[in-house]
Amino acid sequence: MRIILCGFGVVGQSLAKLLESRAEDLYARYGLKPRIIGVFDSKGSAVDVSGLDVTRLIQIKKKYGSVKKYSNTKNNVSGIQMINELEAEVLIETTASNYKDAEPGMSHIINAMKHGMHVISVNKGPLALAFPSLMELATYNHVIFRFSGTVGGGTPILDYAKNSLKGERIISFDGILNGTTNYILTNMTNGMSFKDALNDAKKRGYVEADESLDLDGLDAAAKLVILANWIMGMKVTMPEIKRIGIRKIDSDDIRKAAANNSAIKLIASCDNGLIVKPKELPFDNPLCVSGTLNAISFTSEHSGTQTIIGRGAGGIETASSILRDLIDIRNEIVKI
Ligand code: HSE
Repeated sequence: MRIILCGFGVVGQSLAKLLESRAEDLYARYGLKPRIIGVFDSKGSAVDVSGLDVTRLIQIKKKYGSVKKYSNTKNNVSGIQMINELEAEVLIETTASNYKDAEPGMSHIINAMKHGMHVISVNKGPLALAFPSLMELATYNHVIFRFSGTVGGGTPILDYAKNSLKGERIISFDGILNGTTNYILTNMTNGMSFKDALNDAKKRGYVEADESLDLDGLDAAAKLVILANWIMGMKVTMPEIKRIGIRKIDSDDIRKAAANNSAIKLIASCDNGLIVKPKELPFDNPLCVSGTLNAISFTSEHSGTQTIIGRGAGGIETASSILRDLIDIRNEIVKI
């Protein structure tokens, strides 16, 4: 399976290493033989149709901050050129999410689908802004579109609701979908001020380069859009989500909640409408998880409420979700 990888940051590099280290096992267990034939980052690209050497690719990236110097040629194709010209079965989109115009990820995905490539995206931007039309484009071009890693990192939240609850009617769901704000609010529950908790989260590298994505609930809202479309069959995009972030939460609010045996959490919910906002949650509610954990409770017609908890971010965790999607795509292709 020939792969083009867009973006070579923490997730892209973790994926490349994962595919290499699991090569024999993936072939033996799933008949999957992934070969990364093209990679590009914001500064340049690397191509080898017989498969790129992952160790060298990572060394070059570390040394020069780009994969551009992988081959000693001057011909460095742009990302879009690579997608348009290189024959591959799957495009994996790992560039950073942006909620203004979703670029450059949006163009990568659209071009790949138009060229008949299956697409895996862990970039939430294009899905948050254009989920319904991207699904249509995938159907029109007869390609498979997967995005397991966009919600819950390596925790299979989307697969759980879509596949394990097959036949059920999910009535509503509530979730902590942003690990960074959960970490900040947990620290505040343990006595820290908002400012100190934010600085601590920054020091640990949890906070997005644009802190507003976490603090103002944009990241959680994007995940809510993806869940609402994929799980509930809605056709919604980001502007339709009501959203209040955590910037106005202070130590007084935290203390008042604690007096009610509750913690304040940033909750994304799909019940009467779609909304992201801080809410009090009783300490003994299974959703009330600490630190950077994510959690989501699905309430279904017959099987009641079930909660799934796990790490919602991280390079190798997110790479593992891409691998799930790759195996899924390979299984679908074999059926055709
Ligand atoms: N900023 C996100 C979080 C990263 O804190 O959960 C994973 O999407």
